[in-house]
Amino acid sequence: MMNYMTLANLTKKYSRGKGDEIHALDSFNLTVKKGEFVTILGPSGCGKTTALRIIAGFEEQTEGDVFLKGENINHVAPYKRFMPMVFQSYALFPHMNVYENIAYGLRALKKSRDIIRNDVAMACQVVNLVGLEKCYPGELSGGQQQRVALARTLVLKPEMILFDEPLSNLDVKLRIQTRTEIKRVHRMLGITVLYVTHDQSEALSMSDRIVIMNHGRTVQEGTPEEIYNNPINSFVADFIGNANFISAEVEEIEGKRVTIRLQNRIIVVKQENPELSFSEGEEVYLAIKPEATGISSDKADFTGIVDTRSFQGSHTEYKIEFEGSFINIHQSNMGKEIQTYQAGDIINLKFDKDLFHLYKK
Ligand SMILES: Nc1ncnc2c1ncn2[C@@H]1O[C@H](COP(=O)(O)OP(=O)(O)OP(=O)(O)O)[C@@H](O)[C@H]1O
Ligand SMILES: [Mg+2]
Repeated sequence: MMNYMTLANLTKKYSRGKGDEIHALDSFNLTVKKGEFVTILGPSGCGKTTALRIIAGFEEQTEGDVFLKGENINHVAPYKRFMPMVFQSYALFPHMNVYENIAYGLRALKKSRDIIRNDVAMACQVVNLVGLEKCYPGELSGGQQQRVALARTLVLKPEMILFDEPLSNLDVKLRIQTRTEIKRVHRMLGITVLYVTHDQSEALSMSDRIVIMNHGRTVQEGTPEEIYNNPINSFVADFIGNANFISAEVEEIEGKRVTIRLQNRIIVVKQENPELSFSEGEEVYLAIKPEATGISSDKADFTGIVDTRSFQGSHTEYKIEFEGSFINIHQSNMGKEIQTYQAGDIINLKFDKDLFHLYKK
């Protein structure tokens, strides 16, 4: 697959107040291949929108280059880049119905009536809006409005679409529905997508590749599986997996085997991250994913004290005091006779140590 779009050392500085400067982007690099669905995932303020606005041409970078199909487009006007952006707010015309909203861009391009009718009908089919063409935006749900915004973009037949947190105004159910809708459109039309979100489950479920961003830079990139299973540092582990962090001391190192001690018992953690090295006696973070921990009936395992319990339907979340920290664990509610525990109960814990990761403090 060829690189459709490349960002090379993109830097954006904003001045703030008296001579203060902030780097919204700090030598940010990114490649997106043709047809790929790439998500930039990062906390508020890390530079996601700034990156999209520079790609679309609404904002000029301080340094660095944007390439589209191998060509430098630093000085190409936004409308010639032909990379529409779909935002969190739908920005539909309230006095126009669905059909007119979707047709608007084609009319501006002076397309013939027949072409407009045909293309709008097609776009309505693709995003499941058939039957709603005569409705006004005020008569539609948030999810339907976002689908109109998507259809309005699709009729223009772009090769690439930029999405900036398009689902964050929707409630959970609609968010998941619209997510599926966007994925379907991506697959069906083979459009290249650059998607921005701070919602890790959105990123994990939709993307071919995720770029984790913080302070205007890439922290890690990889497939959803790679990032979820092997976060490169505690920031990514925390952001992507709701990991629990426990302080521990390195006792011994033998190649990739790092020995730590929990509740006076030796634990060996496989340390396969080539970018990290530890030394004996070093204080580290042990990251434990909620799904790496279970409640055990075996007294030989570890013990913790229940702090709070929260029923979630399919599972129950427990916050457990363990080794001077709190860890969250999920207990499935499938099956019969699941024992429940109350605050203050001492419980036995078992760990799946293959899911343990160590990080620098
Ligand atoms: N026009 C501007 N002038 C000054 N600072 C700006 C401007 N636009 C953005 N910034 C700053 O640049 C940084 C990155 O902003 P950006 O909007 O790209 O973040 P974001 O990752 O999209 O955040 P969010 O998830 O909240 O939308 C922030 O610290 C922000 O305050
Ligand atoms: Mg933003």
